[in-house]
Amino acid sequence: MENNTSYTCSGLTSKDENITVSADKPLVINDNITCKEGNEIRIEKGGTLTLGGDLDLSGDLYVEGKLIIEEDATISGSGIIHVVNSFDDIDCKGTVTAKIDAPEPVEIDGVTYVGGILLVNKEYSLPREFGTDIGDIRPELRQAIEQMRADTGFGMTLRPSSGYRSYATQEWWFNYYCETDGYENAITYSARSGHSEHQTGYAADITKTELDYADTEEGKWLAANCYKYGCIIRYPADKVDITGYVYEPWHIRYLGKSTAKLVHDSGLCLEEFLEVDRTN
Ligand code: DAL
Ligand code: ZN
Repeated sequence: MENNTSYTCSGLTSKDENITVSADKPLVINDNITCKEGNEIRIEKGGTLTLGGDLDLSGDLYVEGKLIIEEDATISGSGIIHVVNSFDDIDCKGTVTAKIDAPEPVEIDGVTYVGGILLVNKEYSLPREFGTDIGDIRPELRQAIEQMRADTGFGMTLRPSSGYRSYATQEWWFNYYCETDGYENAITYSARSGHSEHQTGYAADITKTELDYADTEEGKWLAANCYKYGCIIRYPADKVDITGYVYEPWHIRYLGKSTAKLVHDSGLCLEEFLEVDRTN
């Protein structure tokens, strides 16, 4: 680290060039600091680093423990934040513009997770039985939608028009669209069974599944604010080639507030953010 920066380590001041935050020494840095190229900050398992000031990151920040980015704090620069295990290890209330490196996808019982985030898209699918025990949108998503509706005030509908869909229900809809509109069209807006985020319980269509929803007051509000409630617009207009789906201004995906903020601030769609390729 820069020699002229100071930071506290359980009350101590250190001027080391690399910082290791261990389980027995939580570190709170309220100054603006710099991590130069070739240097690293490593938060070990069980360790906690709290940033209250700005971090100019040109080196590497490894997050194996907990990284707390306070509201006014920022992490910027050409360096990389490496999420070793889980995005849950980052609690971001501030702003991150530095690149975030996601861990490799992990498959558990036929379900793919990247850094703890359940991933479903044209490439990664869910088993037939997944979600049948839930049978509804997750309480976190329901609560987020209710809070959004409460906060937008009078005049907004902001209700789920479609939430959880089982494998079988998705199968029915996809076949229906294929029969009425042809496979080539259907595949651009409807997921094959097992490939719909709706089966996770973490996705919902809000109010109106028509493109002009994006131009309504509610659609604009949703796009601008849903990340504050833990959700992202999953299929953005400028990412059609990457997600493989047409723009869906109504389809939100719950990720939790911190991760949704990171994705939102990155300007990336979920595939880009999680660094997963899609070949299907
Ligand atoms: N419309 C989205 C892609 C779905 O069918 O899940
Ligand atoms: Zn949807």
